[in-house]
Amino acid sequence: MCGIVGYIGQKDTKDILLSGLEKLEYRGYDSAGIAVRNAGGVHVSKVKGRIAALREAVNEDVHATMGIGHTRWATHGAPSRENAHPHQSSTERFTIVHNGVIENYMDIRNQYLQDVALQSETDTEIIVQLIEVFYNELNDVAAAFRKAVELLTGSYAIALIDSEDSETIFVAKNKSPLLVGLGDGFNMVASDSMAALHVTDQFLELMDKETVILRRGEVKIIDPDGQQVTREPFKAEIDATDIEKGTYPHFMLKEIDEQPFVIRKIIQEYQNENDEIKLDPQIREAMKTCDRIYIIAAGTSYHAGLLGKQFIEKLANIPVEVHVASEFSYNMPHLSEKPLFVYISQSGETADSRSVLVQTKKLGHPALTITNVPGSTLSREADYTMHLHAGPEIAVASTKAYTAQMAVLAILAVDTARAKGIELDFDPMQELGIVANAMEALTDQKEELEELARDYLSVTRNCFFIGRGIDYYVGLEGSLKLKEISYIQAEGFAGGELKHGTIALIEEGTPVIALATQENVNYSIRGNVQEVEARGANSMIISMKGLDKEGDAFVIPHVHDLLTPLVSVVPFQLISYYAALHRDCDVDKPRNLAKSVTVE
Ligand code: G6P
Repeated sequence: MCGIVGYIGQKDTKDILLSGLEKLEYRGYDSAGIAVRNAGGVHVSKVKGRIAALREAVNEDVHATMGIGHTRWATHGAPSRENAHPHQSSTERFTIVHNGVIENYMDIRNQYLQDVALQSETDTEIIVQLIEVFYNELNDVAAAFRKAVELLTGSYAIALIDSEDSETIFVAKNKSPLLVGLGDGFNMVASDSMAALHVTDQFLELMDKETVILRRGEVKIIDPDGQQVTREPFKAEIDATDIEKGTYPHFMLKEIDEQPFVIRKIIQEYQNENDEIKLDPQIREAMKTCDRIYIIAAGTSYHAGLLGKQFIEKLANIPVEVHVASEFSYNMPHLSEKPLFVYISQSGETADSRSVLVQTKKLGHPALTITNVPGSTLSREADYTMHLHAGPEIAVASTKAYTAQMAVLAILAVDTARAKGIELDFDPMQELGIVANAMEALTDQKEELEELARDYLSVTRNCFFIGRGIDYYVGLEGSLKLKEISYIQAEGFAGGELKHGTIALIEEGTPVIALATQENVNYSIRGNVQEVEARGANSMIISMKGLDKEGDAFVIPHVHDLLTPLVSVVPFQLISYYAALHRDCDVDKPRNLAKSVTVE
């Protein structure tokens, strides 16, 4: 969580830092700050709240050509101005921003900082105070920085400035993402390339435990053994316009609308000129030869994993288990003899998933990461990667990454089935093409869905989603979308399970949204709707063409049975969006959340 950015160059740095931080707000947005250095010293501005509030607080008259900035998602200490970064050492000589969690910060505090009066409750302040203590001992900033960093356990992306040095930003990285951005006469450091795209598209990757001396004309990367490392830069593939809203009021709406294009892009990327599935042969081999697949994911990606299990088991005949990453790491089930681990993650940075990856790698099991960010930690550390090609997803609530995950999983399942010699009456690319068209038709029906949101969700405090089979899993995702952006307490239930307890919560007017896209359960799910209606529920049925009945609130176009989740989730996304809008919620940046959760 949290995003950091640093700049050293020729231009006034305030705006470069603030624009960078705006692009990092998806990583956390409860407080923010920048520190810029000029001949007059280091000037710190910080606020509780968003970058927009920070912009107001920054002194326009201070000009500087180097600085660091931070946007925070609180872990140690409440969101407040005091706990906001940058943090300074007692003499204010050193100023730091940090993303990550220092696990041994209490030990460091007890051992080295007994006499230091701390200003905040953060683990970050410990680092900057430690650097000052070591500087007083060693009289060498670079050595003090290295010595302090070597003592840290946990995750960190750090940028430090020294009020006595106009030429250097000191940088360190372990586990938290961090890149160096390269320019002509300037250099940057940032948690994500998006934060520097307004000034450069050239980047250097950093490895764990490396430190960097960043100057206007020099980037010196030092490995954990103290040796200087040279590395080739890479060009960020993101188009700067991909991370702008354009004419859309919110990123979420833009990203919902982009789904048909993403599906078509996936078809293109995973197909060769002979219309065969294009896939790394090593992935094919790993899928074909494993005896069981373990899907590990969190949040929306976990919901995609539940559907991935259906695709792989039904098409490729391989048993699949799906696990919530944060549970798996300490509650590992009995593993099969030849497991393959599949990590699904939009960001590729989720700490809970990474912690499982570290464990399963130690056990020697192969790992495939399915992610939207190919250079991400989970992608780098796994043996193989499948890219989602969804383009940057900025809204915290995931939409296009979820449907992209399902499309890629469906392609993977079909490829595996074919590799195993299983005859299928299912052409995934053709069926996904039909899905893309259906999505397009749905995104054209926004008015109807907005009306449903108004009718059912304007005043309620809770809402239930029910479905059977794969509709149940889509209901879980629908309920997650609704709760995370509208704050309506929403829960997804298997249609038959509701009556075993939860039906007690149904009162006069309680909204129940049922999904009916599967022929084999069409009758029974409608029976469950009758049950809740009899108890006063305000129910709506979303069905699929061909299975619809009179009175259904909304009917999605007909697509292949297995792929219905890619389409049936779209009305849920739009209903959630409009429900949040009608309640005046901050759609793209819901309270308490962050998009990339890099703490366990
Ligand atoms: C956070 C986000 C969710 C996301 C989950 C997993 O909780 O708020 O939207 O689904 O992380 O993220 P990942 O990047 O691993 O898919």
